[in-house]
Amino acid sequence: FTVDWDASASEKGGWASFMDKEIHEQPQAVADTLLGRFNLTGDLNLDEVRIDEDVFRSIDKIIVIACGTAAYAGMVAKYAIEHWVRIPVEVELAHEFRYRDPILTPRTLVVAISQSGETMDTLMALRHAREQGSRVLAICNTQGSSIPRESDAVLYTHAGPEIAVASTKAFVAQIVAAYVLGLYFAQVKGTMYHDEIRKIVDELRAMPAKIQHVLDTQGESVREAAEHSLDAESFLFLGRHVGYPVAMEGALKLKEIAYTFTEGFAAGELKHGPIALVDEGEPVVIIVPPARGRNVLHAKVISAIEEVRARGAYTIAVAEEGDDDVRDYADVVFWRPQCPTLLSPLVDVIPLQLFAMNMAELKGLDVDKPRNLAKSVTVE
Ligand code: G6P
Repeated sequence: FTVDWDASASEKGGWASFMDKEIHEQPQAVADTLLGRFNLTGDLNLDEVRIDEDVFRSIDKIIVIACGTAAYAGMVAKYAIEHWVRIPVEVELAHEFRYRDPILTPRTLVVAISQSGETMDTLMALRHAREQGSRVLAICNTQGSSIPRESDAVLYTHAGPEIAVASTKAFVAQIVAAYVLGLYFAQVKGTMYHDEIRKIVDELRAMPAKIQHVLDTQGESVREAAEHSLDAESFLFLGRHVGYPVAMEGALKLKEIAYTFTEGFAAGELKHGPIALVDEGEPVVIIVPPARGRNVLHAKVISAIEEVRARGAYTIAVAEEGDDDVRDYADVVFWRPQCPTLLSPLVDVIPLQLFAMNMAELKGLDVDKPRNLAKSVTVE
């Protein structure tokens, strides 16, 4: 009697790939990243970051530096933190930041976001920021790695080890950590009432179940859309507001593992160029903002879907449950539960990750180890 035992298959715990496993670990990654950061009354307690409250109060500008997926998490953070804290947040690719003589003062907080903590471009950028007298806070997933070691403070994401080259659970955990940081800023700077912060904290705590709901219900439509567009040579992804970085991240996932030419862009730019690319059968993925609360952007995004559809596009929408307008315009809809707009990237990105994974699987590609890419880029 012999048993076939494959070490790698056993590490995947029954999932087809590490990416599949990591996508499904996202409810846990979000819950674990929130854990222990609030006291019983909902106040944030960030003693772990080792920066005085007074210092936080003095900060008048945040610059997020990162690369790849981490930079898209930074873009999501900008929308939330500027809204909650009312200080400017710039997001910059670390390699561009380092070599353009950025304006840095002791009142600037540089936030370096990195899953691995070893990305050389991000490390060089943070060294430069510190030399110029700014404080650096790292949002990082890897304990004791170079970026947190060289930063003034660190807020760890608790996504657990991420093996697949294409980042998934680290992305949602980075967004959550950035929200936590933003809410902490709002608390110490007094830009939000205690009750408002608490309400968002409650909404954040509800997100793992909502992510789970998307994972449990959207598999079939994702597969259908992937099968339909398998032969497409290119894809467009569009979104507005926080849907914009989600569109960029959805496009990146498809490039990374399905080797498809994709462009993610702000839906408002459609008429300034990208619409010229839309031809019969071109797949266009659209992140639709919620219709609730008379959101003016909803109608604008719906009209973007109409525009591309009128030119023959195959339209795939990511939309909130109950959004009946979308049904009339999209060929396929990936539904996600209701949540506050600023938190919606945490659910909107899930079907896009699954979509890229399905495309790569259907093409017979190595989902976990795409060609030419490294998990962590340790050279400049
Ligand atoms: C590489 C990885 C990406 C990642 C980026 C930044 O390109 O393939 O998945 O987003 O590096 O990595 P970091 O470890 O700094 O988050």
